[in-house]
Amino acid sequence: MSSLPNARILAIESSCDETACAVIENGRALLASTVASQMDIHARYGGVFPEVASRQHVLSVIPVVQQTLAKSNLSLNDMDAIAVTRGPGLAGSLVVGMNMAKGLALALGLPLVGVNHLEGHIYSAWIHTAGEAIPPEPQFPLMALLVSGGHTELNLMTDHLTYKRLGSTLDDAAGEAFDKVGRLLGLPFPGGPAIQKAAESGESTRFKFTRAKLDNPYAFSFSGLKTAVLYEVNALKKAGVELPVADLAASFQATAVDILFNKTMQAARDFKAKEILVAGGVSANKALRTAFQSQTEFKVNIPAFSLCTDNAAMIAAAGYYCYASGHVSTMDMDVQPTWALS
Ligand code: KG4
Ligand code: ZN
Repeated sequence: MSSLPNARILAIESSCDETACAVIENGRALLASTVASQMDIHARYGGVFPEVASRQHVLSVIPVVQQTLAKSNLSLNDMDAIAVTRGPGLAGSLVVGMNMAKGLALALGLPLVGVNHLEGHIYSAWIHTAGEAIPPEPQFPLMALLVSGGHTELNLMTDHLTYKRLGSTLDDAAGEAFDKVGRLLGLPFPGGPAIQKAAESGESTRFKFTRAKLDNPYAFSFSGLKTAVLYEVNALKKAGVELPVADLAASFQATAVDILFNKTMQAARDFKAKEILVAGGVSANKALRTAFQSQTEFKVNIPAFSLCTDNAAMIAAAGYYCYASGHVSTMDMDVQPTWALS
């Protein structure tokens, strides 16, 4: 992208169980961000309850936008565009954020930018807090590992908004595997942070779990790993042994991290990437962050901890680059897909 315009973007994210709003300047400087999480409400169901999620978004979306504007010391008239997550996500949840964003754009006469949620996760690595030191921008070609609750994929990013998907998961996403294994071990939802916590006091080499061998070296499969943990749990229960939850959590986490790390490193070498980027909810995992931060072969871009899980700052950042490149939607959300799959 040649010359980038100055622009302030207000973004809304409501694809799953977080109602979020943020304001970003020039794609990187975060002025304000609010995330209203529904996690406690869904925890009692052991997963996200879609109908409950959309009703909560209806209740939260206006206060969340108001709080964000108050934090930013700006008004709606100071915005240059409105961005919103247009998918993937829960339909009943997405529609709440999209209607709010459409209403704002229409009332203010601003362009509306529909953003792919996954692209948002990737752009979370561009963000810094306004007023703080500006970190160097990620450099292309980038090998991007995207690890969220619903997706696990390796993308070669050769420029802004330009991706080549090298491989994705054939079954469960990494986050989904963390959540399902968490449930197997009797840990609270969501399983990712609970497994990380349980693993802290566990022995990661105690259990050896099998890894899937795939034709595409850049593809993933986590369902076999989850089943391996299930078989181990069943065998231990049958033997009347008290479940060594910490050791099981640590062994599962180490295996999952090892798979994600090794495949990404291999892909980065094979495609001569300059840098690595890791994003999505699972990038909050300390063991995964440590694995990438301990290697010295590639510079690694990982979002700040608070930007790993769902938020609107990442939608505002991706929205800015879509806006800057002219990927601006019409009011019926008929946007050019910027998540160009090839
Ligand atoms: O990106 P995200 O917030 O939502 C989606 O777009 O799906 O990712 C949520 C996923 C959940 O599966 C959750 O268990 C996982 O991210 N997660 C973690 C950690 N924090 C969140 N997984 C492992 N370790 C963590 N610390
Ligand atoms: Zn997400």
